[in-house]
Amino acid sequence: MSPEYAMFGKYSEKSDIFSFGVMILEIVSGKKNSSSYDYSYSSDGLLSHAWKQWRDGTPFQILDPNLHESCSQMEVIRCIQVGLLCVQENPSDRPQMAEVVSYLSNLSIELLSPHEPAFFVHGRMNPNMVAMEEDSGHLSNSSTQHSLNEMSISISVPR
Ligand SMILES: *[C@@H]1O[C@H](CO)[C@@H](O)[C@H](O)[C@H]1NC(C)=O
Ligand SMILES: *[C@@H]1O[C@H](CO)[C@@H](O)[C@H](O)[C@H]1NC(C)=O
Ligand SMILES: *[C@@H]1O[C@H](CO)[C@@H](O)[C@H](O)[C@H]1NC(C)=O
Repeated sequence: MSPEYAMFGKYSEKSDIFSFGVMILEIVSGKKNSSSYDYSYSSDGLLSHAWKQWRDGTPFQILDPNLHESCSQMEVIRCIQVGLLCVQENPSDRPQMAEVVSYLSNLSIELLSPHEPAFFVHGRMNPNMVAMEEDSGHLSNSSTQHSLNEMSISISVPR
């Protein structure tokens, strides 16, 4: 679930891109359990872990040990990069699906550097998300706080 959908019910094609990115990272790392929203976004969850290894120049660290023998290091690193680009917090920073396909099929296309993805720090969403929602004018200041506080209850209900 993309953060903008989980928190504000905003759905777009870019929400699917987000999910696709999580799936890529799950496959590469062999870690599933992102059916738990809290797990994916927690500061020790999959997205955070993948990002930290990427940032530190050690993306190979997240690779499923069972895949070590059978994969091309370059392709794995590219998959991780594509995955991280798909889970960028701002939907407009995520690529289109057609771009994702070309990234994966044409290795000579240069990829952007991903930024830190969306994830919770100590159970709170990055303040940028709140700012985004306030900008859109749908929620007053107090109800934004309210929906944030309720998040841990409401997001576990799939729709
Ligand atoms: C996923 O969650 C289940 C149930 O909580 C647990 O038994 C399993 O070890 C977890 N798998 C991973 C890869 O974390
Ligand atoms: C792959 O991407 C490169 C660089 O953008 C481009 O020049 C080339 O035509 C592409 N190859 C294919 C098969 O699309
Ligand atoms: C929003 O709430 C915070 C804390 O409750 C307050 O400091 C801030 O001034 C409020 N902003 C607006 C635009 O009302």
